[in-house]
Amino acid sequence: MTSYEEFLENHKVMLAPMAGVSDVAFRRLCREAGASLAFTEMVSAKGLHFANERTASLVDLFEGEDLVGVQIFGHEPDTMAEQARWIERELKGHLAVIDINMGCPVRKIAGKGDGAALIKDPVLAERIVSEVVGAVDVPVTLKTRRGFYADTETCVDFARMAQRAGASAIAIHGRFATQMYTGVADWGCIARAKAAVDIPVIGNGDVFSAQDALDLFDATACDAILVARGAQGNPWIFSQINAALAGDAGCGAPTPFERVEMARRHARLLACHHPKAVVRMRKHAAWYVKGVPGASAARAAFNTCSSLQDFNEAFDALLERLSVSGEESARP
Ligand SMILES: Cc1cc2nc3c(=O)[nH]c(=O)nc-3n(C[C@H](O)[C@H](O)[C@H](O)COP(=O)(O)O)c2cc1C
Repeated sequence: MTSYEEFLENHKVMLAPMAGVSDVAFRRLCREAGASLAFTEMVSAKGLHFANERTASLVDLFEGEDLVGVQIFGHEPDTMAEQARWIERELKGHLAVIDINMGCPVRKIAGKGDGAALIKDPVLAERIVSEVVGAVDVPVTLKTRRGFYADTETCVDFARMAQRAGASAIAIHGRFATQMYTGVADWGCIARAKAAVDIPVIGNGDVFSAQDALDLFDATACDAILVARGAQGNPWIFSQINAALAGDAGCGAPTPFERVEMARRHARLLACHHPKAVVRMRKHAAWYVKGVPGASAARAAFNTCSSLQDFNEAFDALLERLSVSGEESARP
């Protein structure tokens, strides 16, 4: 068993990288809720190379963050290797793994040859993996999709490529790049990749509940999973999945009060750490109150917030309405 396989044995449920979402504040809340590792937002290797301060701040740690996964993107093997080395030096013992983004389909990334564009150039992808692996001591993984074009599944070959190039694991989101987020994730391709390689395979796609997580493990025999959208406004998903994996009945869903208080804390953490805290918090706040009675009025209020105090007032107003209607502490 490789050391990364051993690591994954104890880190089975991780927060996926999410640009614009998985910053220090969100990572902290997810880790506290039971995510065994959290990945940073994707970081541009080129941005780091040009010593772009905003890019470098993406690899800041929250106080007490023992371990983090950092995801980089780019398409120049030497720049990526050089920047992986810089990240390793910068984060010292806190860096658990460098992940290489080979799955982002958005035009501003894939259109420049980064992210999912690498699925179409497996020779270059292999050079990138082997150069980054050669540059750092920490494990190197890659995260990809089922394939690029609909109905052309390439992830099994990609998994073989990753293994050849020395990657410690491969994460697969079971959608084609051209699908973006439409349709359902195909977990069969994750199972096929798992059967084809010896390195660990990390499953990803459409885990929105503890039961989904159990089903993904069962359907694919994957070694670990990454949760992305299911954690938005819902860090509790990690404790729920951990409980389900341990065979416990688990903790119930959070009450509206607990949701609002988590959102309040999230706003406070963001305000301390993020230059664009207000804009970022508007979407998080909306996610936290999804399904809470009175959510649409609250969302409208969040959209006009321009300070932490505004958010606190909007949260107070929502709690006030909930307590009047007696729904504050009802468990869904
Ligand atoms: C807002 C958002 C940002 C994302 N950013 C990244 C990213 O930076 N790197 C990456 O590899 N995947 C990124 N993804 C994809 C997720 O990591 C994940 O693969 C995808 O959402 C499927 O998992 P899910 O069904 O659990 O959401 C992002 C997804 C979302 C919704």
